[in-house]
Amino acid sequence: MSKTIGLIAGSLRKASFSKKIADALLLMAPEGYTFTTISLEDLPVYNQDFDDDNKVPESYIIFRNTIKDINGFIFITPEHNRSIPAVLKNAIDIGSRPYGKSVWEGKPAAIFSNSPGSISGFGANHHLRQCFVFLNMPTMQQPEVYIPEVNKLFDEEGNIKNKDTKALLEKAVGAYIKWFERNAG
Ligand code: FNR
Repeated sequence: MSKTIGLIAGSLRKASFSKKIADALLLMAPEGYTFTTISLEDLPVYNQDFDDDNKVPESYIIFRNTIKDINGFIFITPEHNRSIPAVLKNAIDIGSRPYGKSVWEGKPAAIFSNSPGSISGFGANHHLRQCFVFLNMPTMQQPEVYIPEVNKLFDEEGNIKNKDTKALLEKAVGAYIKWFERNAG
């Protein structure tokens, strides 16, 4: 049966480079796999009061059910103040609760960070890894994926212009799939 890999871009911005990378990755799904983008729109800021059955927002239920049905994830994260954007942390927190019912449990992940700058979201990449240790999400170690100068990466149609970066992403997706096959429960 086909496996589904969720592509989660940590940005709400309409013209987000992270979303453009996710869209480019959609075309790189190998045979036997479906890649799907997961929107972080419409998720209210997590509040533990929402864990009461009668207070849980409808969008949380939809998000958690979506995550439950997906076999693994590639996170494409920008960096905000040397960490992950709040919208991504919010989505991770929502999926992790109520206590004992995390929908992230055991799901193999990869992290591709990016930035218009040269440090390529290194801080965000490693802060996200820290969350995944606690959430028991095995995370691909190598290759590490850091994409610098992401603002120069795309043409007007959203295609990746830089052949080396495209090749790097293809290689990283291939490595993730091989690694996923060894680590999926
Ligand atoms: C940023 N940006 C940024 N970039 C970076 O490399 N390191 C950083 O720590 C930060 N910090 C930061 C904080 C805040 C609040 C904003 C809004 C932006 C710039 C960031 O990389 C840039 O806006 C990206 O284009 C955001 O990603 P998307 O929306 O293009 O995916």
